[in-house]
Amino acid sequence: MNSRALFIFAILSFFAFSAFAEENGEDPGLLMNFYKDSCPQAEDIIREQVKLLYKRHKNTAFSWLRNIFHDCFVESCDASLLLDSTRRVLSEKETDRSFGMRNFRYIEDIKDAVERECPGVVSCADILVLSARDGIVALGGPYIPLKTGRRDGRRSRAEILEQHLPDHNESMTVVLDRFGSIGIDAPGVVALLGAHSVGRTHCVKLVHRLYPEVDPALPASHVEHMLKKCPDTIPDPKAVQYVRNDRGTPMILDNNYYRNILDNKGLLLVDHQLANDKRTKPYVKKMAKSQDYFFKEFSRAITILSENNPLTGSKGEVRKQCNLANKLH
Ligand code: HEM
Ligand SMILES: *[C@@H]1O[C@H](CO)[C@@H](O)[C@H](O)[C@H]1NC(C)=O
Repeated sequence: MNSRALFIFAILSFFAFSAFAEENGEDPGLLMNFYKDSCPQAEDIIREQVKLLYKRHKNTAFSWLRNIFHDCFVESCDASLLLDSTRRVLSEKETDRSFGMRNFRYIEDIKDAVERECPGVVSCADILVLSARDGIVALGGPYIPLKTGRRDGRRSRAEILEQHLPDHNESMTVVLDRFGSIGIDAPGVVALLGAHSVGRTHCVKLVHRLYPEVDPALPASHVEHMLKKCPDTIPDPKAVQYVRNDRGTPMILDNNYYRNILDNKGLLLVDHQLANDKRTKPYVKKMAKSQDYFFKEFSRAITILSENNPLTGSKGEVRKQCNLANKLH
């Protein structure tokens, strides 16, 4: 081969190789700062938006935190939670398990801000995860470095969510099993439920502990408060009647939750059982004593949750709008 032919050969093989790599969707998986070349400002924009929105609507941080559980726990972190119902498919966010979920429009605000800088690059799944991370900091929790590179799913799977996401009254055996199936152990479960240190629980999820008889495990002073907040045997699900999860520090993600549940002031049956089951109680006690231990385990468990079975590489898509799958052409 003369040098000219060699040159042409080199060029051709370069293109052939690129096409091959493209075709096979070279998939690095999740990475720290996945968007460092494609949208270097992405994480800063998300952090700024979270700060801004949190200043205006404090409770939106509760929603970001709850989102990561409901999206990532069910099959994968693919933002399927955020999809609207269609004529044929009920969305995950409209199931009974997702009762009380709110503030989805603020995810759209963050997405819009990111789209203005880098259209079509950053997935809703990553925005969901990073808003939870930055929301945790806003609530006084730890900063948890998390990887990115998730892609968005195209379908919402309400049936799977209803089957898999634990209910408010699930037994500890089922709860530990389900979390175990995605690699989260007992101290991880205990730490994650510490999220119930913020936010609220609607009366529909509580009345079975008050009527027809009061659950004898509940302390009298707490019963009085719950009855005042939930006076109706069958609350109107549309009425916004609720009890705060942690009356002491309702806006702060801290270990007060563990002291509450040790005093039997846990609102949900799962919260109550966490402090009364021999498989979890030792960790509850340890977290009640040490905020550091709580934060360490919480960070570890959120990391595992956020990496549950992601769509990466060329799987799924990057949605333009978080509540709608892109149109297929
Ligand atoms: C066994 C597991 C769990 C069960 C059964 C459960 C159930 C519930 C229920 C029934 C509510 C009340 C919803 C309402 O009435 O508005 C709630 C609220 C909440 N949950 Fe969980 N949860 C679990 C685990 C988690 C985890 C792992 C997280 C996050 C890491 C989390 C974060 C939250 C937050 C932040 C709220 C308050 C939401 C708000 O005020 O808008 N939960 N949970
Ligand atoms: C849990 O509560 C729901 C109502 O929210 C009820 O339908 C279900 O049977 C209860 N499950 C258990 C295991 O008690």
